Amino acid sequence: MQDQLKSIREHVAEELKNIQDSNALEQLRVRVLGKKGELTAILRGMGKLPAEERPKMGQIVNETREKLESAIDEAAAALRQREKEFRLKRETIDVTLPGKTREAGSLHPMNIVLDDLLDIFTGMGFEAVEGPEIEYDHYNFELLNLPKNHPARDAQDTFYVDDNVVLRTHTSPVQARIMTTRKPPIRIVSPGRVYRADEVDATHSPVFHQIEGLVIDENISIGDLKGTLDTFAERLYGKGIATRFRPSFFPFTEPSAEVDLTCAACGGKGCRTCKGTGWIEVLGAGMVNPKVLDMCGIDSKKYSGFAFGMGIERLTILKYNVPDMRYLYENDLRFLKQFR
Ligand code: PHE
Repeated sequence: MQDQLKSIREHVAEELKNIQDSNALEQLRVRVLGKKGELTAILRGMGKLPAEERPKMGQIVNETREKLESAIDEAAAALRQREKEFRLKRETIDVTLPGKTREAGSLHPMNIVLDDLLDIFTGMGFEAVEGPEIEYDHYNFELLNLPKNHPARDAQDTFYVDDNVVLRTHTSPVQARIMTTRKPPIRIVSPGRVYRADEVDATHSPVFHQIEGLVIDENISIGDLKGTLDTFAERLYGKGIATRFRPSFFPFTEPSAEVDLTCAACGGKGCRTCKGTGWIEVLGAGMVNPKVLDMCGIDSKKYSGFAFGMGIERLTILKYNVPDMRYLYENDLRFLKQFR
């Protein structure tokens, strides 16, 4: 019996050396000291001993139990301490590490200019209206006095979806849609994407953006057009920027004009940007052709109107002195970050 006790003490000591976690320790405790444990089994065997040996043996077993208990308790305390140290180490926060900064985004320069344009025109009483980019030939051309086989169609290298459907070549079809569905007074601007079969270069792209305006009411004159565009020019580019009208041709306006703005780079004195002229060509405009009004169901004897259209890319590269339009599309952060 004494040998059995000794062997228990020895294997418990051995196991305690290797135990790594408190679950395993608890299992060991139950296996040795529990109700069905090894030590209890030995106590049960005491009944077989001669009566005079029992007290002595009982004492030895109790001593052994106490020793085992305290050894296991010690091991448990050591384990707890180790686990605590481990946890502390794992949860350490290095307060000297640099923080993670979150970069603020910024608007694309064309969105900045578009916001400016919408501010300027809604400030003058215009309503912004959008329309489809895949458009009927009827709205893109026919209603704007550009019948099939009209030579002026060549000027707008068109992507055809089929005989009657195109990718809109300008946002003027939005104006045609509005004229056929509303009664004057009409005062709208239509911003949006437009498409032309152009090669990509520093000033061209097959997809670009326009904003076009339309005003129709009684007694609208070319003076109203001039005043509106002068106001627009000064609000977008600053005091001292004026407009100059040069005679031109568009099938949907009569008379028509190419409109130049004072070159902002030199203030009109003449420089490389404006090729010495002091003016930069920026937009097309004119008085709405009475034929267009009549085709759209507006009485051209009672009403007159003006229209204008311009490219937002062009406005943007002029405003920020961007040397090449392609920068606007390349998503190069070094370029975009300059507009924060
Ligand atoms: N729609 C013309 C274009 O895209 C621009 C324009 C609009 C000209 C309105 C005159 C009047 O080229």
